[in-house]
Parts: sequence; structure tokens; C-alpha cells
Amino acid sequence: MLSLYRRHRPRTFENVVGQDHIVRTLRNAVELDKVHHAYLFVGSRGTGKTSMAKLLACALNAEGGPRTDFAPDDPACQAIARGTSLDVVEMDAASNNSVDDIRELRENVALAPMGGGRRVYILDEAHMLSPAAWNAFLKTLEEPPAHVVFVLATTEAHKVPATIVDRCHRFDFHRPSLEQIAGVLRRVAAEEGIQIPDPALGMIARAATGSFRDALGTLEQLVTYGGSEVKVDHVLEILGVADAELVLDTAEALVDHDARAALLAVERLSGSGRDLTQFMRDLAAHLRHLFVVQTLGQVPDSFSVTAEHTGRLRSQAERLNQSEVLRAVELVAEALRAVKDGSEPRIQLELALMKAARPESDLSLQALMFRIEQLEQRLAGAPATARGRSGDAAAPAAKVTRGPAPPGPAPPTPSAPVPSSPDESVAEPVAAGDAPPRPVAQPAGEGARGLAVAEAAPAPDASPDEEALPATTAPELDLDRLKALWPAAVEAVRLEKAMVGALLADAQPTALEGSRLTLTFPQAAEFSKRKAESNREVLQQALHGLTGRSLALSYELGANGPAGAPTLTSEELLERLKEEFGAEEIFEDDPPTS
Ligand SMILES: Nc1ncnc2c1ncn2[C@@H]1O[C@H](COP(=O)(O)OP(=O)(O)OP(=O)(O)O)[C@@H](O)[C@H]1O
Ligand SMILES: [Mg+2]
Repeated sequence: MLSLYRRHRPRTFENVVGQDHIVRTLRNAVELDKVHHAYLFVGSRGTGKTSMAKLLACALNAEGGPRTDFAPDDPACQAIARGTSLDVVEMDAASNNSVDDIRELRENVALAPMGGGRRVYILDEAHMLSPAAWNAFLKTLEEPPAHVVFVLATTEAHKVPATIVDRCHRFDFHRPSLEQIAGVLRRVAAEEGIQIPDPALGMIARAATGSFRDALGTLEQLVTYGGSEVKVDHVLEILGVADAELVLDTAEALVDHDARAALLAVERLSGSGRDLTQFMRDLAAHLRHLFVVQTLGQVPDSFSVTAEHTGRLRSQAERLNQSEVLRAVELVAEALRAVKDGSEPRIQLELALMKAARPESDLSLQALMFRIEQLEQRLAGAPATARGRSGDAAAPAAKVTRGPAPPGPAPPTPSAPVPSSPDESVAEPVAAGDAPPRPVAQPAGEGARGLAVAEAAPAPDASPDEEALPATTAPELDLDRLKALWPAAVEAVRLEKAMVGALLADAQPTALEGSRLTLTFPQAAEFSKRKAESNREVLQQALHGLTGRSLALSYELGANGPAGAPTLTSEELLERLKEEFGAEEIFEDDPPTS
């Protein structure tokens, strides 16, 4: 018995889904007797190229002359559908791509059509023809006998020589939307007496990645697998795709910054026995969809399977900002790479979700840069995402249009307000006139966990509708929090100025009075202290990035260095600087090297 997709190959132009632009043009060409002698059909697999070519052949060979409303049961059409028509020659260039094949074709085209219509040559996978074969074909393609029509079909137009493309009327087949594929599946299932719920259709459509053939192939497999009553579980088993629901729930946990919900989703997933790596790929695909929805401001047709799914996609896109989505995509991609290198998928997935749900728990530089960016976005007046307030539909639909931070003046770089003079024992960190960085309005969740914020007074030029959070939401910065952030601050400095970062590794924050932070270096690290002191700006910037506060810094030598950490004498430190950074000792009276 013919396979399902062949049984349901479109038999009339009306049956062709998603290629209206081509159907209309071909119909007009037939009706106006303006059929060109060579067509180039371009499109991804299973979008209808061969089907369309056969329909054109049916129209041209219809009983009683060319017509677009031909009868599919017409003998000529039947023969064309079965591939037994003498007037319609199907060639697969994947296996017939040589000069000899083309020579044989050239001899053949002169033959008059048996049925009195047109001889239609359908050349599939046309891009597989060898260069010599193309050359041999060129003349025939350019001036075939009047009764011949060539249809070249390819998924890779860029491999077809320009000389050939120029001589053809080119049609680009659209990639069908998920809805369109689901529609064809629904129609075929009805015709075949197959019961299948909508969510299952959606999953098959999604897994078909734009190919009607693959979707129908999966449906056929499901019927063989579970009979004509298809269940969602069957689909999940057959396709091994993670339950779309589980992907949405996991993304929801990220939107709500709900680490617990994220872990529970992983628990559900591993309990279901589904492939975790495939789930990560699906989650990454879903996050990418969110990003696209945010950029386009709407849910593209090809993304949505069911209305409920569209709604959840839109709502998630509204409640996450783009940098959060990007970061989540990066984290999942990182997890997939680690799994490829042999790491345990579950751990990697949980780690990625933890970092994405709680950026403050991740002290990597990426996480810090991400949080600085969040701060900058907020400083730039971008509306705070509704994080932590899941289901808060406060963000009006328009919010979907939210993309990267709106244009306009960049927030003052943290460095500006920080006083630079090393011995500033007298001056407070930020003199009144120094345009201190504007306090950042933070949603409660964030502030509490991550960053201390300066007095949460609304920014002086905050627009009237800018959300001013009550001061109480941002807890004060304290020494413990600074100590927790210290490794990250040193890391940030190290990336700016590696040597200064190395020097600071010996220091520890030991006191915080108001906005004055004292750093203590071990007794023996006199040199590090002096050097670090004279490079205080880079540290002040890093601390500002992390805490939103401009801190004055005091440097002192203490009795002991960090517990267990070996303190380096100046000589040892010099040696290490030479080794690690290729530093050179410059003696005062050395002439400057040009
Ligand atoms: N536009 C469409 N509308 C309805 N069904 C379609 C459409 N395109 C493809 N199909 C279904 O998919 C099957 C395969 O389509 P077809 O052979 O035309 O694809 P193709 O574009 O030629 O693919 P390939 O590039 O792999 O050759 C058809 O038999 C039909 O069942
Ligand atoms: Mg084909």
C-alpha cells in the first residue's frame, strides 16, 4: 500500500497548503496559456515542490486540453499521480546526474506527447546535476520543443548555476507554519478515520520542522504503533520530544525566577524517563522563540500550535527581558556542550536553570555582566520586568514590543562619580555635585537577594510614570554581603587589569563605615597594598557595578592575611608578576624604552 503522504499528495491545486502565491501564478499561466518552458521550484523538503509539478502536469495534460480545474480521477491524472504517465517524466538528479543522463533526456524531449498535451520533465534534487551535465542541458533547457515543460525542483538553489536560474521562472516555496502542518494532519486523519487530540497534532507538527512529508510520516508511524486512536503519550514515545507542556512550565519557572519550580520540573522530566538532552534542545528552541516574539512583538504563525500555547508564549515573552532570555539560552547551550563532553545531563540542566532563575547565585563574570546590564537597563528607564511577580499581567500586551533597552542617553558609566585621588581620607565618596549614579528602582525579590542599592529615592529626572519603589525595598549594603561579593569584584578587576586583580587577591574587606570600605592586606604585602591603592578606580568601578554604590576605599596592612593563604613578600610578588604577566622591573634611573 502506498505510504500515507503519497496517498494524500495534493490532487488538486486547492489541496495545496501554504503556497497560494505559486498556485495562483501557475493557474493563471495555464488559463492564459502562458506556461513557461522551464520552472525552478525552490524550497525545503516536503513543502510541495514535486506535488506542485505533478499538478501542473495534470493541468497541462487534462482531458480536453489544459485546465486548472482538472478532474483528479482523470486517467491522465491518475497515471501522473502514480508516476506511470508516459508524458510526465520524473528524474531524480541525485541518482541521474551525469552527462549521459542529460544526453538521453535531450534525445527524449523530441518525442511528441502521447496524450496530446505536454511532456513534462520533473527533475528532483536538481542541484545534484554535475557541472558537465548542466552544460549539456543548457541549450535544451533554453529552447526545448514547444510541447515540453521542464520543472526543476531543489532544496539548494545556490548550487544551481546562474545560467540555468536565469532561464527559468523561479518559485520559492514557503515553509509551512505549525498551524498549516497541523491542519493537513487534521484533514488527513479525518479522511483516514484516525482519532488524534490537538496537542498531539501540535507536537507532530513541531517535530516535522517544516516538512509536510515528515509530519505525515510520523502520523503513519503512530497508527502503526498504537492503532487509529493516537494518544499524546504515543507521540512523546515515538518522537521522544519532551512534553511541550513541561518545556513551557520550565520556562515559566525562569520567568518567575522560581528556582524551586525549575527543579521540580526537572524532577518531573527525569521521572517521565524522557531524554534530558532532547529536553534541553527543546528548551533552547523555546527560549529562542521567546526572543523572536520579543523582537517581532508578536507570535509568528510558525510558532504556535494551539491558542493556549500562543498565549503562554506571549505572556512569557512579556515578562522576561531580552537579556534574560539570551542569558538563559547561553546557559542551556553551555549545559548541552558540557553534556557533549560527558557531563551528567541532569546536573547540567539543573545548574543552568539555577543560574538562569537566580542570577545572584552565579558569581561568574557572565552573571555579573548580566546583572550590571540589568541595572543599566533599569537606570536607562527600561520598565522592570515583572519578575518575581508571576502571572502579573500588568505589562500591557504592547510590552511584547519590548526589545533591547530603548535608545536615548546611556546611563552614566559607574566610573564617573567615583573620586579618583588616592588619599581622599577627608572627602566622602560622592560629593554632592558629582552627579552620583541614580538610585536604581529594584523589584523586591532582586534587591533582597542580589544587590544592595543606594537610597531608593526616585531618580531626579525619572519620568512621572517611572516606577519609584518605596525606599524600604532595598536593604542596606553590609560587610557580609561585600565579603560575599568580594571574589566577584576581584574577578571583575582581574578582567579589566589582570595585575591589579592579582594584587587584590591578597586583600580582604574588613570594615564598612557608611560608604567607606576598608581593605586589609597582610603585613608582608606592603607592595600589593601600595600598588592596589594607586589603582583604586578599577576596583571602585567593579564594586559600583555589583552594588550600585560608590564606595570610598581605605587600604591598610593587617596582622594576618586571609586564613591559610600564603602571603607573598615583595620579592616573591615581583617574581610572580614577572612570571605571570611578563612584567619588567623598571628602575627609577632607567631611560624610558621607546
Ligand atoms: N503544500 C502542501 N500541501 C499539502 N500537502 C503537502 C504539501 N507539501 C507537501 N505535502 C505532503 O507532503 C508530501 C511530500 O511532498 P512533496 O513530495 O511535494 O515535497 P517536496 O517539496 O517535493 O519534497 P522534497 O524536497 O523532499 O522532494 C506530499 O505527498 C503531501 O502529502
Ligand atoms: Mg520532491
